[in-house]
Amino acid sequence: MSVLVMMSGSESRLDAIQQDFSAQGFDEPIWVPGDDFDPEAVEMILAWKPGAQDWRPYKNLKLVQSWGAGVDHLLEANLPAEWTVARFMSQSLKDRMVRYVCSQLSNWQLDMPRLFQAQKSADWAWHDGRWGKKVLILGLGELGQSVAQGLLSQGYDVSGWSRSAKQIDGVESLNGEAGLEQGLAQCDYLINLLPLTSATRNLLDEKLWAKCERQPVVMNVGRGASLAEDDLMPALKSGQISGAILDVFSTEPLPAVHPFWGHEGIWVTPHIASISAPEDVIALACENLELVRAGKAPRFPVDLSQEY
Ligand code: GLV
Repeated sequence: MSVLVMMSGSESRLDAIQQDFSAQGFDEPIWVPGDDFDPEAVEMILAWKPGAQDWRPYKNLKLVQSWGAGVDHLLEANLPAEWTVARFMSQSLKDRMVRYVCSQLSNWQLDMPRLFQAQKSADWAWHDGRWGKKVLILGLGELGQSVAQGLLSQGYDVSGWSRSAKQIDGVESLNGEAGLEQGLAQCDYLINLLPLTSATRNLLDEKLWAKCERQPVVMNVGRGASLAEDDLMPALKSGQISGAILDVFSTEPLPAVHPFWGHEGIWVTPHIASISAPEDVIALACENLELVRAGKAPRFPVDLSQEY
């Protein structure tokens, strides 16, 4: 039996991937699309944006392991509903996300772009910063909870909005429409970490901005398509929101002609808030393959019918 690695660029990364599998003591064949292999011998597919295709030949598949934490790429691939799917999660992914969110909030408060600019002309551009303590996190999954804890340790007041109520020490748990309205009315910073599903597509739109009362800075580190991009610049112009720190976009790479690039109130980073460390993905893939071979559920399972 074997593993099929289906991810863009995997052909060039196959040597490194193979080494990471060997480091886990895994010595079964590893294939990429285009290799001469028998689909019925594939037990696990390790995938990133595999695209929709005919999955029927993989008759003995036991597991699809996502290379990333988000699995919207697997929903787009129309996997058979009965397949076992797991997403990626690790401490390194959480740590990196916490660092991105905390540092970008600090950079915003210190107005770092202005200070970098001022340095060029030896300008002692002292200012007392732009403060505000109340953060609303949309999505309190693994990443959302870690970010909440990181922000708490930096002295922020943290609320989190999620589908079901969550018990996290020091974090106000909000849910439902009323909870969202309450959180939006009180936040200085709004951080999106929701998975992309049919319920969260375009959730951050003009109706949502109209419910904000404290002109929050918005950070999107979830998925680009959760933000209605056409509604963002009008909300900045009208002052409903003060700024946007965006790491994810509906189209990636963000096209060079996109108006977000040149907008002073928008910071663009190239989907680097958190990145899957290959050795951690492969360690989880091997662990999950052992679990499913033993008839057990994998770690970080995905419910395709719930879309996350
Ligand atoms: C990155 O976007 C991921 O899904 O892990």
